[in-house]
Order: sequence, then structure tokens, then C-alpha cells
Amino acid sequence: MNIAINGQKIKISEEKTILEVARENGIGIPTLCYMKERNNIAECRMCVVEIMSRPGLYPACSTYPSDGMEILTNSTKVISARRKALELMFADHVTDCTNCSKMGLCKLREYASIYGVDDRYYGVGKREKLKDNSTSFLVRDNTKCILCRRCVAICEKEIRVTAIGVNQRSTATNVGFGIELAKTECISCGRCIKVCPTGALNVADDTKRVWKAIYDKKIKTVALLSDETISNFGEFVEDTNHDVANKIVTLLKNIGIDKVYRLSDFDSYYKQQKKIAFEEKRKDEMILDGMCEGFKYYLETYHKELKRFLLEIPDKKTMLAELLKRDCDIFVINIDNCVAKKRRTNESIDYPIDVSITTRELYEIYVRSCVSTYTAASVWECLSEKEPDRLPDELTKCAHIEVEEERDVTIIDGLDRFEQIVINHGLLKYMRVRVCPEGCKSGGGGYFMKE
Ligand code: SF4
Ligand code: SF4
Ligand code: FES
Repeated sequence: MNIAINGQKIKISEEKTILEVARENGIGIPTLCYMKERNNIAECRMCVVEIMSRPGLYPACSTYPSDGMEILTNSTKVISARRKALELMFADHVTDCTNCSKMGLCKLREYASIYGVDDRYYGVGKREKLKDNSTSFLVRDNTKCILCRRCVAICEKEIRVTAIGVNQRSTATNVGFGIELAKTECISCGRCIKVCPTGALNVADDTKRVWKAIYDKKIKTVALLSDETISNFGEFVEDTNHDVANKIVTLLKNIGIDKVYRLSDFDSYYKQQKKIAFEEKRKDEMILDGMCEGFKYYLETYHKELKRFLLEIPDKKTMLAELLKRDCDIFVINIDNCVAKKRRTNESIDYPIDVSITTRELYEIYVRSCVSTYTAASVWECLSEKEPDRLPDELTKCAHIEVEEERDVTIIDGLDRFEQIVINHGLLKYMRVRVCPEGCKSGGGGYFMKE
């Protein structure tokens, strides 16, 4: 089949939508509601295109080309329709952008600037306020919702929880939890936050607690950073070279954090401890690795009977926090992409981690602190050097020990895959299940999901 997009001749052999063909050929088309294989409801009308010799406009995300079709993606008609679609979204949107939790990261705002939209063309949105801050990890602000239903699709089709959904009908239609989030079966994966293009869903803000600890002269602050956080932060600051880690450590030291540890330095010690725990449990018919906090919430909510198979060992950052706190009065700040870790930290008593912030909150700190991350090089604290940190002996000794890689562990990323495996093959001997489909690097507190 031969088609033309903006005059560019394209040959197609497989069945694909206009959007897919355009993107594969380097032609950009804006989208808000579309998510490949997950949400194809053609609701927002941002992706409309003109098809020559046909009346009207067509959503590229759900229209399939036919032979000889000539498509225009940026005609005057198309631009004006996109502008109108945006104006209508703003008509039902409380536009207090300067005070919005998505700061400069909102897709709606970005498109409004690109298409020169007057966000008050139809007056100021008066959507009924349904703010839900009933949990310690997620904040829902209904006044920012554009009803794209990406969150609904991800929760239902990928996480298989259905904690968030569409309520009521017609002009009263709203997306939300129906009841307070705290009363739902949400497992706090945060994947809905990751796909929300506006400020309607966001992580609960714990940055104030970080600042408070920093400014308390009696408190010694220690930050723990994972490699996933480092690469994800690079996406926020649009820098993917190897220097991002140094930029983060410089930022943290410059804002007043006393010590910064890199979690990967703790790998050898942790593997050794895990091996011991594994040997103790070896006789069990099945072992579940409990390093994913979201998976533990999933078991607590849906499969309590499987909890007894969990390996009895804290996850890496919790264990490191425990060790660092031994004999030391410090305030531990965990920074990663995990929203479930934030929940565990905020809802547990006597937890070794004092506060968990997501990479997104780290980015907020970066923006608000106005600290240049390019100045004076700062250094990571080294786990293998005992002085002056008074680190526990066994940790300093083990920091560089080579430990055999784990064998026979089946890594399963995504609950849909876990359920498929359990349904089709029964439980495997040793499984490490991570709720997020690409593991911790795709956690809900990280950069927004890319198409
Ligand atoms: S945090 Fe996860 S489980 Fe909870 S509503 Fe969002 S996607 Fe669903
Ligand atoms: S909460 Fe966000 S992702 Fe969900 S429907 Fe509203 S704007 Fe879309
Ligand atoms: S992206 Fe096609 S209609 Fe929303």
C-alpha cells in the first residue's frame, strides 16, 4: 500500500494506524490520551489529521490508512482543531499553573504554548474540586484532570488492580477512585502518576521534611541513591551522559546534605546477606524475593497466602539504612523512583529510613534550590572506608568481596506477567517479581512514560 504524509511518499506493508506510520517515518503528531496497546479511546482529539478529498478530520491514533491516501498533519484546519480541543480542555480546567505540582512538566501546558492557546478563552474552569490526599504517597487533584483515561488503562490493563476508574456520566463524568484512595485496593505502584499528562495525579510531596532536616543543625543527614535514580534524573535534566551521578551528588551536598551513599557500592554485602537468607529458606517449595515494595503490597492485598514464601530479608536500601544507623544518630533520606517505598516509609513505625522522596521530588528540589550542579565537584561517601563514618565492621570488610551471582532466579517484571506465569506454569522455585514492567527504572516516581 502506498500513502503520502505531508507529500512524503510512504510504502506500508503491515496494518498500522496513521500515527504509527507517521512516527516511524519521523513525522511528529501530538497525542494526549493515546498509549500504545493500552489506551486507544480517541478522546482528546489532539492527534487529528486531514485526509485529502475526505470531509472532516480524523484521529491519527485510531485511523488506518488506505491505498493512495494523502494525509496532512499540520494544515490550517488541523492546527485550528487542535487549538480548539485545547481551549475546550482548559474550559474545564483550573489553570493555576504557577501553583501546580507538575511545574514545568505538564503536557497540556506544553501543547498550549506550542499552539498558542489562550487558556482562558472560555473563562476559568470551574470543575468541582475533588482533591484526595487521603494517602501518604499519592495526591489526586480532579481540577486538573482532562479525562484522557490513561491512568484508568494503566491500572486496569497493566497493573490489573482497577483502583482508579471512570465515575458518573455525561457532564458529571469524572475519573477517580470513587471512594477515598486510602480505602481502595491500590498497591501504590504509582504507574498512574507516571502516565498522567497533567497535574491531576502526583506523588505526595515529602520535600519539606528533607529541607527541615537539612536546616536542623542538630541533625546529620544521609542520602541513599540508586543507579535507577541517577539515570532517571538524567531524563529530567535532559542529560544522559555519565556525569549525571556527579551532578546529583554535588546538588545534594550543595543544599546541605552531609553524606551521600551510592546503593550499588552495597551490592556485594547485600548479595552475601541474601545468600544466607536463601540458604535458610532453601527447603521451602517456593521462594519469593521481597525486594519490590509494590509487590509486597500486592501480596498483602490480593495473595496473603503467598506471603509466607517471601525471603526474610529487608530490601537493599532498608538494610543499608539499618547498618548506617547502628550507633549513629542520623536522618536517612532515600531517593528513588518507587512510590510504594514512600508509602512503606511513611506508614511504618521505627523504620530505618526517615523519609523517601522520588526522583521527581529530587527534580523539584533541583529546580527550587537554584543550585548549579556544574560547580565544585563533590564526592560520594565510600562504604569501604571506615573513618570517619564509623560504619559497621562487617560492612566495611565486605564492600569489595566478590559474591557469586544468584542462580535459578526468575525475574518477572509486571504483575500481568506474574499472573500469566502463575496461571500457566504454577509457582516457580525462586521468583523475583517487580510490579513495574521494566523494573525499578520505570517506577511511578520517575520521569513520565515515553511513547
Ligand atoms: S498507584 Fe498503581 S494500583 Fe494505585 S491507582 Fe495508581 S496504577 Fe492503580
Ligand atoms: S487523572 Fe491524569 S491520566 Fe487520569 S484521566 Fe485525568 S488527566 Fe488523564
Ligand atoms: S491521541 Fe488520538 S485522540 Fe487522543
